Amino acid sequence: ADFVIYNTCTIRENADLRVYGRLGHLNGIKAKRPSMKIALCGCMMQEPHVVEKIRKSYPFVDLVFGTHNLYAFPELLCRMLKDEGRVIEIIDKSDVSAEALPSVRHFGFKSGVNITFGCNNFCSYCIVPYVRGRERSRTPEEILNEVRCLASEGVREIMLLGQNVNSYGKTLSDDVRISFAQLLKEVASVEGIDRVRFMTSHPKDLSDELIEVMATTPKVCHHLHLPVQSGSTELLKKMNRRYSREHYLDLVGKLRSAIPDLSLTTDIIVGFPGETDADFEDTLTLVEACGYDSVFTFEYSKRTGTPAATMPDQVPEAVVKERFARLLDVVRETGRKACARFEGQTLPVLVEEKNREEGLMTGRTEHNLLVHFAGDDSLIGQIIPVRLDACQGFYYLGSQVR
Ligand code: 5AD
Ligand code: SF4
Repeated sequence: ADFVIYNTCTIRENADLRVYGRLGHLNGIKAKRPSMKIALCGCMMQEPHVVEKIRKSYPFVDLVFGTHNLYAFPELLCRMLKDEGRVIEIIDKSDVSAEALPSVRHFGFKSGVNITFGCNNFCSYCIVPYVRGRERSRTPEEILNEVRCLASEGVREIMLLGQNVNSYGKTLSDDVRISFAQLLKEVASVEGIDRVRFMTSHPKDLSDELIEVMATTPKVCHHLHLPVQSGSTELLKKMNRRYSREHYLDLVGKLRSAIPDLSLTTDIIVGFPGETDADFEDTLTLVEACGYDSVFTFEYSKRTGTPAATMPDQVPEAVVKERFARLLDVVRETGRKACARFEGQTLPVLVEEKNREEGLMTGRTEHNLLVHFAGDDSLIGQIIPVRLDACQGFYYLGSQVR
């Protein structure tokens, strides 16, 4: 390539290490082809120690910018190409949220829509509030205009995005403020939109109003990603999550009785500083009690600048690995059981793409469950009834019902 750009993530250390590895590789290529240009952007660039390292030790990187001036990319690129040589420009907060930037979508029939940026929660392990800044909400009007525009281009499924969608609206002025549940209803009522999803929900802010809207608005998908992080109240306190194990379990109980077919997914961190065997057992029993469809599991990763990085009792790597493997076993088992509950039912499926296997198509139910079935590409983007014939662990083989 003449131009390489890496959009970086810094949520865990592994992501950072990979970027440095890739840069080492590119350096070798650029040595032979000096006209090649290399750019870095994204969350990692919002960390001053990273930018310092790039500045000093990676002189072959030509352009660096952050998350708050992403909208300026074309201008920065021109400056770098035209006259200035190396351009490094980071700003540490954004007062503007740039609207209506052009975009290219991988799928024509579904799209993410940002509703908030940043995060105010400061979970003690997490770098996000430092690199994405304080929480800001887009106005309902801006969001609905974008959704209407997407619908007119053929989009049928919208995923509303924010670090904590349940606190949507807090930064808006009184005259335009609506709750997240109200926003969800408005988005679902846009003509042409058939499905609405959202991510991520913080358990401390999930309201009864939202449960009610999920249960009674047919277009809102019955899938909820509700990161728990740990099953131990003691550890949740140290993580600054501001809910207890009991509160979380009560919430799941309420959700399950209001929405019996709900698909529930979560995030769990293993090996947070101070995690004892008993804390970890609490996580295992919570996973069993909640019956998750799937769980994203992470080994705790120390992030410089967060409170947890300097906490005592960091858990030895061998212990983390052993607990992680045990958690995976439990997660696989509960996932398999949860996934199998639809066997034999016929459900609406949004057809997404051709399967690698000849003659098969792949789609998703509203629960985000994958189904493979015989069909052709003319079905892509349509919602059609598919019988879920056989559960294969985490996905289904099915057949189109005509
Ligand atoms: N170490 C491990 N996992 C983390 N996450 C966030 N920060 C860390 C960290 N320092 C996980 C949380 C979050 C998900 C997006 O990433 O589980 O919900
Ligand atoms: Fe990070 Fe999510 Fe906590 Fe915000 S709510 S600090 S993004 S884990």
